Amino acid sequence: MKLCMIGTGYVGLVSGVCFSDMGNTVYCVDKDQKKINSLNNGKVPIYEPGLEEILRKNFKQKRLIFTSDLKTAIMNSDIIFICVGTPTKKNSNSADLKYVFQVANELKKYIKKYKIVITKSTVPVTTGDKIEKILKNLKNKNLVDIVSNPEFLREGEAIRDFFSPDRVVIGTDSNKANKILKSLYLPIIKKNSRYFSTSRRGAELIKYASNAFLATKISYINELANLCEKTGVDIKDISFGMGSDQRIGERFLRAGPAYGGSCFPKDTRALVDTSKNFNTNLSIVKSVIKSNDDRKLLLTRKIETILGKNVRNKNITFLGVTFKPNTDDMREASSLFMIPYLNNKGAKIRYFDPSGYKKEFEKFKKVKFCKDISAACLKSDLIIIHTEWNEFKLLNFKKIVKKSKFTVYDMRNIYNPSKMKVNGIKYFGIGR
Ligand code: UDX
Repeated sequence: MKLCMIGTGYVGLVSGVCFSDMGNTVYCVDKDQKKINSLNNGKVPIYEPGLEEILRKNFKQKRLIFTSDLKTAIMNSDIIFICVGTPTKKNSNSADLKYVFQVANELKKYIKKYKIVITKSTVPVTTGDKIEKILKNLKNKNLVDIVSNPEFLREGEAIRDFFSPDRVVIGTDSNKANKILKSLYLPIIKKNSRYFSTSRRGAELIKYASNAFLATKISYINELANLCEKTGVDIKDISFGMGSDQRIGERFLRAGPAYGGSCFPKDTRALVDTSKNFNTNLSIVKSVIKSNDDRKLLLTRKIETILGKNVRNKNITFLGVTFKPNTDDMREASSLFMIPYLNNKGAKIRYFDPSGYKKEFEKFKKVKFCKDISAACLKSDLIIIHTEWNEFKLLNFKKIVKKSKFTVYDMRNIYNPSKMKVNGIKYFGIGR
């Protein structure tokens, strides 16, 4: 089939490249000519393991076309995916849909024969209705079906999540569109995964409901970790004991330093905003948002306690600053709260992250990026493991810190507390 992905960010580029790997011809369109040029030179502008290789392979076989020419891409495609950003509006919780509606208004000009228009970006319930209103004259002539097809891709695992989805969710009342989309997705609907079709609003809500639930699961285990620290219980035992129950499931039960990323924070806020518009109180999601926000200060206060309340001139090392491993994405990472806070209190901070230097910290004089783990840890008072990159999993701390007295604060529970004790290293985990 001939597809058009509008927007070449995490969603549009990964989906477009993977669709081309299934044999489709895919136009990837972006207004940013620089981005298009780098894609045409085989350079991937996002950090997604494995993406560059698949992109180059399909680009070479002419199944991938990167262009800023939206008109040609639309005219030549049967299915059009809207994959533009839907960031949280400034000083509000609602999703900013201006890019989505801009695209809809462009589509109005170029659609001359039947097309399926799909929202793959995460959009609030009823967005499809609004797009349909903009394209109503096309709709009346049966030239267009507007469909919701949310993605469930995790950064760093996006290719695996694309090719082995737990489910493909399609929201439409058009049998014609359903049939076409079922054949598009057939190659990746394995026996243990589902092609699930529902109403358009249903598909839009499934996305938010899923992300908000995962955020709830994480905040739940994070709060239990607080209780574990007071009761001398190891949170990992709780996660295992709970997760073995099929009804609960073991995934997304790892306690940590508050969830971050471009989705959970944005989607939980947008869901609360939608519920407000429909006069419904989602009290649980609201408390998840607050719990997660409060957690960042809670753990930063713990850092101060570990260092004897006064962090001034103390050497603090952050191993990892991204919101999760295998990405360079800093959006809503808890380090964006912790590092400025500690810097303002006079701490001297060094950080190392495998994804490299972060411009987010350039304005802080006493925050320094180090080129490797040893340089970041040398003579440090406190080593904080903020992100569970594989590189941090087998460290010989005494050898790299070269200091008799130092502490490790393992925010991802990578290490075993008793082994640290045996090695005479002062160790703090989360919920242990
Ligand atoms: C998420 C959803 O998982 C994905 O389905 C959706 O399409 C996009 O948003 P992503 O934000 O890329 O994916 O990362 P994810 O792996 O879900 O982690 C989000 C945050 O939760 C990270 O900060 C991570 O560290 C944290 N997390 C995750 C935990 O703290 N504990 C866990 O057990 C799992």
